[in-house]
Amino acid sequence: MYVDLGNALGTTPGVSREALERLDGRVADAHERIEQGRADDEHGYAALNLPETTDPDEIRNAVSRFDDPEAVLTVGIGGSALGAATISEALDSDVDAYYLDNVDPEWVSGLLTDLPLDDTVVNVVSRSGTTAETLANFLVVRDAMDSAGVDWTERTFVTTGEEGNLRDLADKHDLPALPVPDGVPGRFSALSTVGMAVAAIQGHDLDALLAGAADEADRLSGSLFESPAYAYGATTYALDRRGASINAMMPYAESLEYFAEWFAQLWAESLGKDGVGQTPARALGATDQHSQLQLYRAGPRDKLVTLVRPREKEDAAIPETDLEGLSYLGGSSLGELLDAEFEATEASLAAADCPNVRVEIDRVDERGLGELLYGMEAACVLYGELDTVSTFTQPAVEWGKKAARGLLGGGDFEEADAVSDKRRLK
Ligand code: PA5
Repeated sequence: MYVDLGNALGTTPGVSREALERLDGRVADAHERIEQGRADDEHGYAALNLPETTDPDEIRNAVSRFDDPEAVLTVGIGGSALGAATISEALDSDVDAYYLDNVDPEWVSGLLTDLPLDDTVVNVVSRSGTTAETLANFLVVRDAMDSAGVDWTERTFVTTGEEGNLRDLADKHDLPALPVPDGVPGRFSALSTVGMAVAAIQGHDLDALLAGAADEADRLSGSLFESPAYAYGATTYALDRRGASINAMMPYAESLEYFAEWFAQLWAESLGKDGVGQTPARALGATDQHSQLQLYRAGPRDKLVTLVRPREKEDAAIPETDLEGLSYLGGSSLGELLDAEFEATEASLAAADCPNVRVEIDRVDERGLGELLYGMEAACVLYGELDTVSTFTQPAVEWGKKAARGLLGGGDFEEADAVSDKRRLK
């Protein structure tokens, strides 16, 4: 992963090279803390060891029984879906990947009506094994398969922890199960069994994904000037401190649109604590040049824009034309146009004094994705250290989960009582 900070220096808000040099001492301390956490396999920090600890053979073996299905449907939510979705949406495959995370009844029914259920593998993912949305959606999928005369036990595998409803269900029906890695919160689990099982079914190169991540891990060092991941984490932190409380993640590749979703969860759920945190916004280049960019350039001075692109991509020529005024396009290519749009946006933001950071990978392939996912996770962990937040917890998320379960009669939770009290007051 390559990070260019040039357009974040001296903008408004902005950070100076000298300020980053001063911050570098704290980056060195944070790096030491992170390395200690990794050495001890401490909760959260263990995620940065996944390039070494994930066993691609274990994943490939677990899914090898599913021979070339037409589709794979992941039932999971948040960190149990977004990593897999980011990888599968970025890479081409003959096996179509679908995701059921939300419990919108019309959407769920529509998807199940369209899916070829007799040739679909169902991948149910939940670290806790108790998440209501995931369990409910799976019960609906199971029922739909039963109704279609499909033996769901032959087409389902689960990825879950050692306890919980999903584990019980897997044991009861003798379903193949992959473990979730210890000490790795959902949003940091893309490079594990959680994020990579779908990639294995789709025939992607798991070793290359992990090799890309390992390369990025090797680039972590005690200085932000030597590590692209830390350069990104430290600069976004410094910009937030100076007023850039919003970080618009804007990949210039349709294949990376989901990456912005994944990044939003990583950044928001990890860093939004104790009254601090930088709000992620999702955008897509060049599409959002025609909608959100106006605000990014001319709106309140509370943003930075992260522009992401692959350095190489497949290209498509733009046909020659003799239409008046359009001859400049002919003989060029869509890739050249997209690059021109990227650079124009970057320059336009810089000209208006708005901070932006350029992040590049060589290509959108397994290796590039491994670098990007790992690099952003390491950046996030560094940011959390600098901001002294508890990066690896998500109490607000847990609050909502308990409240929802309690309201449906799934246990006694004070969070549910608080909602009931509020309902009574209405
Ligand atoms: O990152 C997280 O911890 C959350 O987004 C979880 O992944 C999400 O709530 C799903 O939880 P679970 O995997 O326990 O079903």
